[in-house]
Amino acid sequence: MPSFKKVFSFAVLISGSGSNLQAVLDAIENGIIPGARIELVISDREDAYGLERAENKDITNLVIDKNDTSGLLKLLNPKSIDGIILAGYLSILPPEVIEKYSGKIINIHPALLPMFGGRGFYGIRVHQAVLASGAPYSGATAHIVDCGIDTGPAIVRGVVPVLTGDTAEDLQKRVLEVEHIILVIAVKAMVEDRIKEMIEKPAVYMDTKEKNGVLEFARGLAELGDSLKGEL
Ligand code: GRF
Repeated sequence: MPSFKKVFSFAVLISGSGSNLQAVLDAIENGIIPGARIELVISDREDAYGLERAENKDITNLVIDKNDTSGLLKLLNPKSIDGIILAGYLSILPPEVIEKYSGKIINIHPALLPMFGGRGFYGIRVHQAVLASGAPYSGATAHIVDCGIDTGPAIVRGVVPVLTGDTAEDLQKRVLEVEHIILVIAVKAMVEDRIKEMIEKPAVYMDTKEKNGVLEFARGLAELGDSLKGEL
C-alpha cells in the first residue's frame, strides 16, 4: 500500500493586501513547500485585497466581523485545518483558538522581536519607532503565537539594515520583502515538523543583496547575536 504523505492544511488570516499570503501561495505553487495547502482565507476586513488573491486561486475565502471573532472558532476545524498563518492579520485571536491550535499558529511581525513588538506596534508605526530609535538595523520575525501579543517563541528572523535617509515607507518596503522569505521558511518548517528545533536555535536570515550598509548590517547582527544569546 503506497504511503500517502498527509497534506498539511492551513487557514490564513489577513486584514490587508495579502502579500504575505501571496508569498506562501507562490511557494506552494513553485514546489518550495511540498505537502502544504491553503484551505481557507479569512479576513476581518471586507476590502482586503488578499481576498481577491484567494479568489484567483479558487480558495474559499470569507470575511468575519472584527468586533465578533467568536465565529472564528467554528470556522477553524482541526479535522480540516492543521495550522493557522496570521499574515498581516490585525485583530486579536480569541484565546480558545490559540488553545485549540497551540503551537500551530505562525505570525509574521515586521520587526526583530522582542524589539518593537507588542500592543500598538503594527504597520508603519513599527518602522517609525525603529527610525526614531536610531537602530542600525531592523527586520522581521516569524514566530509561534502564544496568548500574548508578539510574545511567542521566534522561529526565524530576517535582518534588514537601516540605510541613511530611509523613510518609514522605505524601510517598510524592504522589511516586507524579507517577511515574505522568512514566512515561507517558517511555514515549511511547520509542514516538515521542524518547528521545535528551529525555536531552540532561531535562524537569522541574512539578505546581503544590499551592497551599502553591509558593514552596519554585520555589526547589527553581532549585537543582535548578543541579545539573542540572552534569549536562548
Ligand atoms: C505589512 O505591513 C506587514 O508588515 C504586516 O502586515 C502588513 C500587511 O501585510 N505583517 P500583507 O501585505 O497584507 O501580507
